[in-house]
Amino acid sequence: MNSWATAAGPAGPERGGDYDLLLDLAGRRSRAGLEGALREAVRDGRLAPGTRLPSSRVLARDLDLARNTVADAYAQLVAEGWLTARQGSGTAVAPRPGGAPAAAPPPRRPPSPAERAARMASPDLVPHTHTAGLPYVLWPGSPDLSSFPRAAWAAAARRAVTTAPSEAFGYSDPRGRPELRTALADYLARVRGVRTRPDLLVVCTGYVQAVGLLARALRGLGARRIAVEEVGLPDTRTQLRAAGLEPVPLPVDADGAAVEGLDAGVSAVLLTPAHQFPMGVRLSPARRTAVAAWARETGGLVVEDDYDGEFRYDRLPVGALQGLAPDHVVYAGTASKSLAPGLRLAWIAVPERLLAPVLREKRLADHQSPVLDQLTLAEFIGSGGYDRHVRRMRLHYRRRRDHLVAALAARAPRVRLSGIAAGLHALLELPPGADPLDTVIARAYEGGLAVGGLPSFGAPQDTPPALVIGYGTPPEHAFSGAVDLLCEVLAASAT
Ligand SMILES: Cc1ncc(COP(=O)(O)O)c(C=O)c1O
Repeated sequence: MNSWATAAGPAGPERGGDYDLLLDLAGRRSRAGLEGALREAVRDGRLAPGTRLPSSRVLARDLDLARNTVADAYAQLVAEGWLTARQGSGTAVAPRPGGAPAAAPPPRRPPSPAERAARMASPDLVPHTHTAGLPYVLWPGSPDLSSFPRAAWAAAARRAVTTAPSEAFGYSDPRGRPELRTALADYLARVRGVRTRPDLLVVCTGYVQAVGLLARALRGLGARRIAVEEVGLPDTRTQLRAAGLEPVPLPVDADGAAVEGLDAGVSAVLLTPAHQFPMGVRLSPARRTAVAAWARETGGLVVEDDYDGEFRYDRLPVGALQGLAPDHVVYAGTASKSLAPGLRLAWIAVPERLLAPVLREKRLADHQSPVLDQLTLAEFIGSGGYDRHVRRMRLHYRRRRDHLVAALAARAPRVRLSGIAAGLHALLELPPGADPLDTVIARAYEGGLAVGGLPSFGAPQDTPPALVIGYGTPPEHAFSGAVDLLCEVLAASAT
């Protein structure tokens, strides 16, 4: 029989104890029965180390047992090392029950080959479906959320809300708050070489929304085909299709997207020039010039997704492509890597001719992005907090990258790491003779580590087998454990 032990009222001489406790006494209404039920609950992990237990008075009352029965059972379990009792803080489950086998971790069911294949083929795949429940995550696409600058952001939010004019809380310009657009125009010019004005910036609810707005605006202007990097963010292609556009794949090689394949039948091209996602290469200077020339000559549009442009480690960053041809390039930036994806804050700098159609779509989508976070980001940028945070994170990720490089060189020297000059992810190519990519990924998942493989991002069949490693993703406490696990998996797969 299950019994709820629910405590109420002040604790007696034995301190603490107002806790509920579900125990299955199974008819054993004796000291031995209670001891057995508690041992079981600790052994199977339901009562985790550190869990406070009800006081003996409370538990005795709730289970309708004599108080001495409970006190004796507690004393016995303390003596055996299952529980701890400290003067003043009551009884709790011991950190490591003496003599008890460690609680078995819940079995982790590896995805079946069919599930894995379906997941990889899915154009709608999103990171959280791949990482849910796993203790170690090197899936790309997220910054280290444990480093979110909580105190500085809270201070900026307080200042922003306190000083905002009342009209800021109403319906306003679909482009977003002028405070943020002014701060961004200055920041983007200073840091990324973007040539724009506050009135040409549109604040969006993430880059994903920005692509949707642009796609619908272009479709409305008669576009039918849009070129995209063949391997890239699946959501982008989904957005294009949803807008009635046909995504035209552009191969990606060591010099970035093969933009010489663009023709006049394509209305726009979506690129990640600073750090191709997920291949990690940079668009070569010749191709930057070529794509700007294509746009000028054909009237085509370039959409520059500068999602991690602030994070470059070994060389000075290359400026935004937009700076070469501001009338032909939409520059897109996001706070999703520099701060946190949960903010859903991104921005696009659009050529003047596109402003009205884009704003029409923005108004239809949600009228305007939420204002308080915009004001906070404006304050954060204006006060120098954003720069300080980005600089701190650059150092943080650079250290992580160096750690990853060193660990792989020592423990899995045959894998080839690339794309590490910038951003928060790297490409890890398996050596000849290694186990198949699917097997390596399955092994990682079985060990509790989520990693991505190139096929998840649309890579063609003949692409060399490679993992996409988001070294920025884990919280700080889990980073070195995740790298250790990765090295173990690779050592087992690629020796
Ligand atoms: C290539 C690329 N672009 C842009 C983004 C940012 O998207 P959003 O601003 O919607 O979070 C991501 C995030 O994973 C990305 O991988």
